Amino acid sequence: MDYEATGQAALAEIAGAQDLDALEGLRVALLGKRGSISGLLKMLGTMTPEQRQSEGPLIHSLRETVTVALAARKTELDEAALAARLAGEWLDLSLPAPETPRGTIHPVSQVMDELAEIFADLGFAVASGPEIEDDWHNFSALNMPESHPARAMHDTFYFPDRDAPDSHGNTREMLLRTHTSPVQIRTMLAEGAPLRVIAPGRVYRSDSDATHTPMFHQVEGLVIDRGIHLGHLKWTLETVLKAFFERDDIVLRLRPSYFPFTEPSVEVDTGYSWVDGRRVVGGSGDAPGHAWMELLGSGMVNAHVLRAGGLDPDEWQGFAFGVGVDRLAMLKYGMNDLRAFFDGDARWLAHYGFSALDVPTLSGGVGTPV
Ligand code: PHE
Repeated sequence: MDYEATGQAALAEIAGAQDLDALEGLRVALLGKRGSISGLLKMLGTMTPEQRQSEGPLIHSLRETVTVALAARKTELDEAALAARLAGEWLDLSLPAPETPRGTIHPVSQVMDELAEIFADLGFAVASGPEIEDDWHNFSALNMPESHPARAMHDTFYFPDRDAPDSHGNTREMLLRTHTSPVQIRTMLAEGAPLRVIAPGRVYRSDSDATHTPMFHQVEGLVIDRGIHLGHLKWTLETVLKAFFERDDIVLRLRPSYFPFTEPSVEVDTGYSWVDGRRVVGGSGDAPGHAWMELLGSGMVNAHVLRAGGLDPDEWQGFAFGVGVDRLAMLKYGMNDLRAFFDGDARWLAHYGFSALDVPTLSGGVGTPV
């Protein structure tokens, strides 16, 4: 066997591989389980000791030569691919700004505007609170005292100088709010009852994967009045979601759950089905081809929370809910990776963003397609 010639032929083929796929094909053909050089190595076992002594080093050196050549060609092709990409994706930052502004409204902003419009129609005002929150508003006032186990479920970002004096001179732990629920307390204390508000905003948890980012968006809802019950909650959510998804067949399922700040607590699921590889909300989750998906947390405002908000639970009742805005946007507009929301990639924004003129209105439609 002419190992020299076999080696030369292999090296020529490797040098001629025009892309990474072709190179990988060669690697498999030469060194893969059933590759030609692997075959030679297997033959060693069938040889006489003398043959093995003379052939062995030649076969091993052939394999070594080919391995090195494959790696070298791979590096070349990788570098060429990167260079081509860099050549194709450059931006000339010295160019003047385009005459027509090309910025778009981020889907999160659009969805928040859509929700504000829908809720405004039901008489809800928009409330807000600080993102840098104190421990009392974020936890204690929401019926989560110091040692409450539910605190551990929020992977809270605390500030290194955790103790900040509040306006009364008391020492408090400052943190990035883990949910929009502290706005419930702030609004009750500032405005009393009755109340009908939503509070959209950023919230923070130390969590990161394809469906979790350390910063995300919620809309809180709070209704306080006399004689409020779960039926009001269900009707409100149904009405809002029908308007938001622009379909009448939204079916909700209320499932008993637990939140420290609501009693009873319910998790709200919505029926959906898969259409073209996308979840599409609508129909009962029990219908054929459908399933239930968890959409939001809610419940009747806990009496302790009403008291912390300065209200008498014997006089006032309420419901509250908190819903993830990013997820609503993904469901409505069909994105599948949450992380892309916060990459600031101009191509993603151009594709999923909205025109600044596309202001959601109930008369114009809150779901005007891009
Ligand atoms: N604050 C809860 C969360 O972040 C959601 C919620 C809000 C539940 C209001 C009940 C009532 O997950």
